[in-house]
Amino acid sequence: MVRVPVFSQRFGLLPAYPLAHVPLRKRELLQRGVDVIDLGAGDADLAPPPGAVAALREAAATPALGRYGFGLGHMPYREAIAAWMHRRFGTTVDPVTELVPLLGSKEGLAHVAFAFLGPGDVAVVPEPAYQAYLGGTLLSDATPHVYALRPRTDFLLEPDELPPEVVARTRVVYLNYPNNPTTAVAPRDYLERVVRFCRAHDALLVYDNAYSELAFDGYVPPSIFEVEGARDVAIEFHSLSKTYNMTGWRCGWAVAKPEIAGALAKVKTFVDTGAYMGIQAAGVAALESGSEWIAGNVAIFLERRDAAVAAFRAAGFSVSPPRATMYLWIPLPEGVPSKAFADRLMEEEGVIVLPGAGFGAGGEGYFRISFIVPPARLAEAAARAGRLLARWPAAT
Ligand SMILES: Cc1ncc(COP(=O)(O)O)c(C=O)c1O
Repeated sequence: MVRVPVFSQRFGLLPAYPLAHVPLRKRELLQRGVDVIDLGAGDADLAPPPGAVAALREAAATPALGRYGFGLGHMPYREAIAAWMHRRFGTTVDPVTELVPLLGSKEGLAHVAFAFLGPGDVAVVPEPAYQAYLGGTLLSDATPHVYALRPRTDFLLEPDELPPEVVARTRVVYLNYPNNPTTAVAPRDYLERVVRFCRAHDALLVYDNAYSELAFDGYVPPSIFEVEGARDVAIEFHSLSKTYNMTGWRCGWAVAKPEIAGALAKVKTFVDTGAYMGIQAAGVAALESGSEWIAGNVAIFLERRDAAVAAFRAAGFSVSPPRATMYLWIPLPEGVPSKAFADRLMEEEGVIVLPGAGFGAGGEGYFRISFIVPPARLAEAAARAGRLLARWPAAT
């Protein structure tokens, strides 16, 4: 008899990924002729900056860009990032020692844990949250301390509430504002509090700033490096995915002082050989496409946000307009479990949303929509969700 190789203990600890089953089920529904509206992933239907597309086309015909990038990668990409960080946040970054080009920020968010966590260590992980934080922690054999983000603290992870025995073992704190999925934003004095906590306890602050450019109503998200003292303890992650509609291109970066950036870069030398340099060349073009391009793109998301808020309100949900991100985090009435609601919304109405419980128990009581399709489709999706809510719990 053939014995199945034995899985590791850490593998057994990984929960099911929230979106893992959706693409297959979506395909089946489409094959059955269902008019599916997919508001699941944070993955807009919009085009990247034209300059990025042209640069990639040109790069494909340039053999030198098709060779291994290694950790250093395409030097102009590093320089464009440093210039962008300076323009946008006033932060001065050494392009060689303080930047790590990434194959999308997700892998970096997970891989950084390998350099700072091990058995017995704790990472403070918000819940609900982007799953790479939990994944990186568990794959490093460390222990996640899950902190539920709820309205009670305006969805802020309050370090003062952590139990002393957790604090004593905390080596990493994961933080993401503007926040996916709750859409919360972090006040300046809060960020100062977190930086003080990490400094006091020698913890690495992993600051995920994937939505720094997707903000509305005059709100301008900060970099953690605008906070005094952050440079000693923080690493900040950025992504081209949301800012430039380049999700599938897999292009991002991390910024930190050389000791921290170098640690992540070293881990990566053992697991990848750098992003395709053609994509990095396209990244340069995207980063240089300028604030007008971003403003135009944000205007499209703003229109969608307002359409989604109006439509979900009209459909009977309680929603307030988020100041940033491409999401609505919508509370469900008491007694409506988020997973059952999302499953039935997909099966009975062809609308894909993410159940709060898919992000862990801390997300229960909510579902997330991404406003990634035009206003008319958002209105249609909201009307279908309202229909399901009105007939809850009866199944059709
Ligand atoms: C909070 C957050 N961080 C990071 C990412 C990852 O972005 P990417 O790996 O595409 O750069 C996402 C994507 O959805 C996200 O929501």
